[in-house]
Amino acid sequence: MSIVTWSFPTTIVFGNGSLTKLPDHVRRASGTRALVVCDPGVVRAGIAERVKRVLEGAGIAAAIFDRVAPNPVEENVFEGAAAFKAHGADVVVSVGGGAPLDTGKLIALRTTHERPLHEYDDAIGGDAHITSNVPPILTVPTTAGTGSEVGRSGVVTLKATGRKTVIFSPYLLAKAAILDPELTTSMPARVTAATGFDALTHNIEAYLSLGDHPMADGIALAGVELCAKYLQTAVENGADLEARGGMMKAAMMGAVAFQKGLGVCHSLAHPLSSEKDMHHGLANALCLPAVMDFNNITVPDRIERVRRVVDVTATSLSNAIRSLREKVGLPSGLGAEGVTKADIGKLADKAMEDACHRSNPRPCTREDMMKLYDVSL
Ligand SMILES: [Fe+2]
Repeated sequence: MSIVTWSFPTTIVFGNGSLTKLPDHVRRASGTRALVVCDPGVVRAGIAERVKRVLEGAGIAAAIFDRVAPNPVEENVFEGAAAFKAHGADVVVSVGGGAPLDTGKLIALRTTHERPLHEYDDAIGGDAHITSNVPPILTVPTTAGTGSEVGRSGVVTLKATGRKTVIFSPYLLAKAAILDPELTTSMPARVTAATGFDALTHNIEAYLSLGDHPMADGIALAGVELCAKYLQTAVENGADLEARGGMMKAAMMGAVAFQKGLGVCHSLAHPLSSEKDMHHGLANALCLPAVMDFNNITVPDRIERVRRVVDVTATSLSNAIRSLREKVGLPSGLGAEGVTKADIGKLADKAMEDACHRSNPRPCTREDMMKLYDVSL
């Protein structure tokens, strides 16, 4: 039997109005001056100012840094680290979706780690250069999808290679994640649907992935159940705080669970974003049914268990997913988003290079990837 490590260390504060607890957790992490890392959307929604007021009301000086691109680049990290120093900050509070939450971690890293960023690339064992002296990070998500608030990695596109690079270390984990459903009510319906499908895909792929991790399995199944119960309501009535809260929990749980692994759906989705500029959650939603049918050959019992959680009346898990996708107003195939048969070869090449499919329960060849894209058109 192999030896495995299971770890769930982040403090998570959940509930309507839980933003008011942020200062307690900043202080608990010995923070006295905060750099609030966000993006222009978070500023426009008035949330950055709200976070600043909450911190300053408790005597914690806060400066806002909002120069984070939708797909973060290294300048965002360098400029953020400079802003941290200029403010004399000792703690990073990241607010927003995946991009600001990821970038906040890397800004914190940069303030004490001066090697070129590519040397920290997880793909080449860069985590060995990351030491414990990273300033404390707190996360305040405003979407419900990536789960970056409880993740231990940040993704950044490097200038030298033009590639999305993953920087990973346990020292990048937030000291606390503040999950306040009230901060997600302004998310538009389509974004709620697409990001919610990212959360659903994380939970399903984690549950099906290779590896011995019963804790992740339990969390993943409970996360699937929350998506099945709340995604449609969150899309149809954005002000429903119970549904918003359910989806925030599901997103966080998906990211906790996928430390076990993801699967081929994410390998198919990543090139759809980099090559076709498709929203990540939408890309997952469009590929997920075909992947479930593909995996059914190797893990039928697990697929059946997920089907019963998603929709006990559906004839298959792939049909249950198609039906949910339709109910939340997402398109029914990649063709509707401008993908054609001519794109499939290049997409399949890129999908093979992606690491996620290595933990898929059924091994994938390039031909399998081509077929999965084709069926998903
Ligand atoms: Fe994802």
